[in-house]
Amino acid sequence: MTAAERLIARDDAVIAGVEKLRFFPLAVQSGMGATLLEPGGRELIDLSASWTASGFGHGNAAIADAIARAAIDAPGSSILSASHPAAVTLAEELLALVPSDLPARGRRVYLGHAGTDANDVAIRGCRQATGRPGILAFQNGYHGGLGTAQRVSGVHVSAGVPADPAVTFLPYPDPYRPHTGDPATVVEDVLRLAGAELAQAATAAVIVEPVQSDGGVIVPPQGFLAGLRELCDRHGAYLIIDEVKVGLGRTGRVHGFEHDEVIPDIVTLGKALGGGLPLSATIGPAAVLDAPVASALMTTTGNPISCAAALAVLEIVRAGAATANASERGAQLRGLLVEYADSGRPGAARIGDVRGRGLSIGLELVIDRVSAEPDPVLTAKAVYRAWQLGVVAYPVRGNVIELTPPLTISAEAVEQAASTLMAALDDAARGVVSDEEIAPFQGW
Ligand SMILES: Cc1ncc(COP(=O)(O)O)c(C=O)c1O
Repeated sequence: MTAAERLIARDDAVIAGVEKLRFFPLAVQSGMGATLLEPGGRELIDLSASWTASGFGHGNAAIADAIARAAIDAPGSSILSASHPAAVTLAEELLALVPSDLPARGRRVYLGHAGTDANDVAIRGCRQATGRPGILAFQNGYHGGLGTAQRVSGVHVSAGVPADPAVTFLPYPDPYRPHTGDPATVVEDVLRLAGAELAQAATAAVIVEPVQSDGGVIVPPQGFLAGLRELCDRHGAYLIIDEVKVGLGRTGRVHGFEHDEVIPDIVTLGKALGGGLPLSATIGPAAVLDAPVASALMTTTGNPISCAAALAVLEIVRAGAATANASERGAQLRGLLVEYADSGRPGAARIGDVRGRGLSIGLELVIDRVSAEPDPVLTAKAVYRAWQLGVVAYPVRGNVIELTPPLTISAEAVEQAASTLMAALDDAARGVVSDEEIAPFQGW
């Protein structure tokens, strides 16, 4: 048994199965930047960044330093019953970072632990503030793994989680797989459905991802978010934009919604915000977030160590280099994959689509390009083989490999990761990985 195998055996004996989304037997001892180290010392390039939570790289020195300093003289662990500077400063800085039509004094920041509670609070607050129950969300969307946030997540509901009683799911505008079959009209087709729903005046809020990540890394065509903005204004519903996965620079802009030049009512952040620690934020109108029912009472809310990490993260975001790198490295990685898709190599014909924004990239694998039939088995084998060859990347929606490396990744690492990924795709298409090897890892 290798050191990694020994750790996985211990993990299997004690960690609850429901918390596992495993695609290959990966165990990690440590990380640095975009590199992960297995217990035996093997290095891998990380194209996931822990599902974007390690967005600014593993062991980021500035963030680690802020955490260490905060831990030494932490003013308690909570902001529930005593104010402390880190949480207040973080809230002030988030209000400055997130654009709004409201003055700062008309807005509030909820600080939570995960994207899930940030979205839960947003939704409950909108319901309370409007007196309306309805939530408009999107098929295959992901907003959380518990409570209301989970019950308005199309991904979970289609997997059997009971839907929230007042949620309506609409198709997300997918230019590769348009719900009506016509990519040219996909935005107006979805907006027409949204308009009809909102016209009934029972909708408290529309919740939407600027790139539908776990739903297959779908980049909506221009005008989608702007159209939702206009409909929300017309019908008195709040627009919640869920930036948990791609916010803080990943798309090549600080906020994913900037690509459509909209100003949301409420923005939720998580994952990368905590610099590796659990932290989330909901930024929105006081009328929504001060409503008592909207508060999620959790003791370590506003935890000063997490807030200190986030202050270091925001400093990195404001400096701009990580966002610019997301744009440049994203273009590099997509360019290499598009070149591969046209190369005639063994795996190339199985690439149906390469898409993305900045360092949020999706590689959709199909049986063949004509039928465009999804190929989740090939996808599972490709990510398994990539791990064997030294790259970590996970599938979403079955047949899409999601590539979300730390925003700090270097051009050399992108080059090396892309060439490893292509070799893995070739091997998977040639049948190098057996069904038995991937059988224990059908997690998602
Ligand atoms: C867009 C989006 N929102 C919310 C969440 C939930 O975040 P968390 O898992 O931190 O609760 C996720 C998680 O993948 C996500 O991708």
